[in-house]
Amino acid sequence: MAVKVWVVTMVLLFRFSAGIGAGGVQAADVLCLGSPDYGDALAKAILFFEGQRSGRLPANQRVRWRGNSALTDGRQENVNLTGGYYDAGDNVKFGFPMAFTVTLLSWSAVEYRGDVAAAGQLGNLRSAIQWGADFLLRAHTSPTTLYTQVGDGNADHQCWERPEDMDTPRTLYKITADSPGSEAAGEAAAALAAAYLVFKNDNDKTFASRLLTASRSLFEFGNNYRGSFQSSCPFYCSYSGFKDELLWASAWLYRATKDAKYLDFLSDNQDSSNPVNEFSWDNKLAGAQMLATQEYLGGKTELARYKANLDSFVCALLPNSGNVQIHTTPGGLLFTRDSVNMQYTTTAALVLSIYSKALKSSADGVRCSAASFSSDQIASFAASQVDYILGKNPKGMSYMVGFGDVFPRRIHHRGSSIPSIKVLGRTVPCNEGFTSWLPTSDPNPNVHVGAIVGGPDGNDQFSDSREDSSHSEPATYINAAFVGACAAAMGQNKQLEEPY
Ligand SMILES: *[C@@H]1O[C@H](CO)[C@@H](O)[C@H](O)[C@H]1NC(C)=O
Repeated sequence: MAVKVWVVTMVLLFRFSAGIGAGGVQAADVLCLGSPDYGDALAKAILFFEGQRSGRLPANQRVRWRGNSALTDGRQENVNLTGGYYDAGDNVKFGFPMAFTVTLLSWSAVEYRGDVAAAGQLGNLRSAIQWGADFLLRAHTSPTTLYTQVGDGNADHQCWERPEDMDTPRTLYKITADSPGSEAAGEAAAALAAAYLVFKNDNDKTFASRLLTASRSLFEFGNNYRGSFQSSCPFYCSYSGFKDELLWASAWLYRATKDAKYLDFLSDNQDSSNPVNEFSWDNKLAGAQMLATQEYLGGKTELARYKANLDSFVCALLPNSGNVQIHTTPGGLLFTRDSVNMQYTTTAALVLSIYSKALKSSADGVRCSAASFSSDQIASFAASQVDYILGKNPKGMSYMVGFGDVFPRRIHHRGSSIPSIKVLGRTVPCNEGFTSWLPTSDPNPNVHVGAIVGGPDGNDQFSDSREDSSHSEPATYINAAFVGACAAAMGQNKQLEEPY
């Protein structure tokens, strides 16, 4: 086994360095470690979502340190807004990034269904998608209403308490015809169309058809009542405007329905697509470009601009392309900015993985000013990001909690850092958390297995400090993109193993 892994790694390294030259990964780092256990990482990345659940937990809940929470969310307006996910290390339900999380999880399931199933994780992934999609469905209470947030971000952040103890205001925010937010409506439309593709072949079509109906309705709402989403500011203010979300939503709806009106929307609004170097909860253009490029490669030549833009995305990220905009750390991690950087790494790895797969069937590559990259080279670079996250880095540290022996112990996460309500069976009020649990140097009592944190700084350093939220806090969308990227790396590794 050890020899086999070694040989496989040699092949990966060769492919990587053959295309990209001497950048990033050092031979010694790669050769002495072998490939990480992708199946284990995939299972844990999905398990993380159970620890983020809000609402009444089901009997098959596996993350046992969590309990029921926020069971009256929405009651003040007679809406059932229980359920859904806490966004990160806090107890707010932000609908805009939550929808992005559902889209990314669904995308991962759609593109890598076989790999996820082979790892025995398809059922868990479907549950993770359903938990979020079900909330979004209930949040869309009329053709021109979508609840976009439960909880007051400022008040929440002034407390350090478990979700099970929460006593901060569960303020409701919504978008309506009078107070629109096309980013939030567009992202929710994208999420539900993508989720539809996951559930459409089920014997019982009820859930899938609800997803598709709501997705179409949300797209109409976002497109007909145009306005920018600012209600969750200062958290998740949209900086990129809403045109990216409308393209992204129409691309998902076209894939889900093949209805020409969504293709026309993509084609008629290509001017809104431009080269970008990040894919994030704010900026969805790279995702829309990826979906449109798949249609382009399938013969929709009118979408050529999206493919050109997506090629620019690749050139902006791949070392030695001649057009690099996002550099890697000395250890090889894509480094966009020193604040929750890992979110950009996992989303980039996901898009690059999907693009490499799409290029494989077209036997084409990407040409940048100083180098060309084959499908395999793009896939290897994406896999190198997954490997870095899982421990192939100068610190030898996995940035996924509970994976390997060395991982973050003091993540910035309220529920993880305070003893479980099942262990310390009394309320831990707002301020007690701030004095007794946030500032200690003890490891978190609840190991939040699978959580991927904001990650190291630009020199591959990481302090593992609970108060350093920009490096030690997990977030749902970091993990959601990792699910697909990890499944891709696993599939690629398996293909390379087979000949030996
Ligand atoms: C709210 O929705 C959840 C999830 O569908 C359901 O389990 C719960 O019973 C509902 N609560 C009420 C009060 O209707």
